[in-house]
Amino acid sequence: MPYAQVYCAAPHPQLPVPSDMSQQFQHDVLVIGSGAAGLSLALNLPDHLRIAVLSKAELANGSTYWAQGGVAAVLDDSDTVQSHVEDTLDAGGGLCRESAVRFTVEHSREAIDWLIEQGVPFTRDERHSVDDGGFEFHLTREGGHSHRRIIHAADATGAAIFTTLLEQARKRPNIELLDQRVAVDLITQQRLGQEGERCLGAYVLNRHSGEVDTFGARFTVLATGGAAKVYLYTSNPDGACGDGIAMAWRAGCRVANLEFNQFHPTCLYHPQAKSFLITEALRGEGALLRLPSGERFMPRFDPREELAPRDIVARAIDHEMKRLGVDCVYLDITHKPAAFIKSHFPTVYERCLAFGIDITRQPIPVVPAAHYTCGGVMVDERGHTDVPGLYAIGETSFTGLHGANRMASNSLLECFVYARAAAADIQANLHQVSPAAPLPAWDASQVTDSDEDVIIAHNWDELRRFMWDYVGIVRTSKRLQRAEHRVRLLLDEIDEFYSNYKVSRDLIELRNLAQVAELMIRSAMLRKESRGLHYTLDYPQLLDAPKDTVLSPRPPAPSADD
Ligand code: FUM
Repeated sequence: MPYAQVYCAAPHPQLPVPSDMSQQFQHDVLVIGSGAAGLSLALNLPDHLRIAVLSKAELANGSTYWAQGGVAAVLDDSDTVQSHVEDTLDAGGGLCRESAVRFTVEHSREAIDWLIEQGVPFTRDERHSVDDGGFEFHLTREGGHSHRRIIHAADATGAAIFTTLLEQARKRPNIELLDQRVAVDLITQQRLGQEGERCLGAYVLNRHSGEVDTFGARFTVLATGGAAKVYLYTSNPDGACGDGIAMAWRAGCRVANLEFNQFHPTCLYHPQAKSFLITEALRGEGALLRLPSGERFMPRFDPREELAPRDIVARAIDHEMKRLGVDCVYLDITHKPAAFIKSHFPTVYERCLAFGIDITRQPIPVVPAAHYTCGGVMVDERGHTDVPGLYAIGETSFTGLHGANRMASNSLLECFVYARAAAADIQANLHQVSPAAPLPAWDASQVTDSDEDVIIAHNWDELRRFMWDYVGIVRTSKRLQRAEHRVRLLLDEIDEFYSNYKVSRDLIELRNLAQVAELMIRSAMLRKESRGLHYTLDYPQLLDAPKDTVLSPRPPAPSADD
């Protein structure tokens, strides 16, 4: 049973009318998002399908590229599916959907084998020999995992995976990789006033031409990542604006558990360092958290110390920073040999050195920052959303894997497992869906160029600041009410702006981010307990029966009594 089923009308759609300025495209599969999930899905589809993969900016702009840690999977003979399942359930604070956890972990080995086949250069285990029966790649540890089970490419795993998959996609003539394309909204039969509910494609702003093009598709896949950009401080790149979640919501999909925003405990604290993550693998390899005095503090908070799940470590850091009134804490790996640090963490080493911090000799100043959206668009094991023909995969989706707190490196795994499952499902259902008829073009006849972009910039800042202050690591009912009041004002203002001015990337992202922020706040207000990543001073206790928070944009179906 869901925690709460809430009806809220979706905003009024701008109804399309013909225009001859924009272009019309037709594909078998439209993939919105070019990260690990989107590229994996495209590569797992057959060669005879015409596939478009859209990226909002240049292709390498998503979160995948910046992922440092790795992919969690059961790869070593000493590890078991049961152990990975139990660790995930434990970190998830009673809210993981056990079937989703088992499904993901059981498919972990084949997902990694597929990545190795594609040519991802994972770091090899120097101690491995063919006779010792162990695994030939190096496995590291991260918080919450009771085994070494994170396969990685030094500390730049995302870049290695992304570069390899992009190279493979470029070799496939049936995959069109289109950059500078910002999806504005999904096109559904309902939106066009037709019979049925199927998704037929999307309206997409082409930043090269400035026009909104129409992409028709037999199947549409949302792989747009999460919404961590809703917070002032984040480890995520600029594009993490919850686009897929907002578009799916407007198209009629339910969303779940959006109150669970993960704060990564250790982002570099330096005035010139924007969003630089210090991978959890440092703690996996023995790095210790210290106060400015040099004292360790994690043993006071959890027996797993630095390797406790992220919610616990981030809250402990937040608590100590507030208690002592300090700007940061320190992550110290100086007790490890310099050669080990440089070979395992070359990216972190180089980046910190550029800011004058030699991590082989000095502790690293760190603070928590928004990192991962655990909730998202509700999907089943094949990535189906509530709207026929529309899939969601990766961070955009809510599969039930992460529960109230995602365990490190389970997210990339989820991308690959669900991308492959959704691709198989699309292939199995191809014969049932014929190419869509031409769709009406986007109507820009009623809008003009904006002469007040300052409003967009101001609203971006305001939204991210009050989300950080009021909907952060520690919440209260009063803070949430304040945030709710402000987000409603912003939504009204943005709606008016959207109705009157030509769309731009900033406006589209702001509209999506504000929508997702509103859903996050509403979800947080509905949870009357503290669980996992949702911690509120007004309800510090845990309720007996864990329930998901499910929001629906559609009115409830009439009951027999109505
Ligand atoms: O700390 C990290 O490298 C991040 C891993 C993750 O978010 O899964």
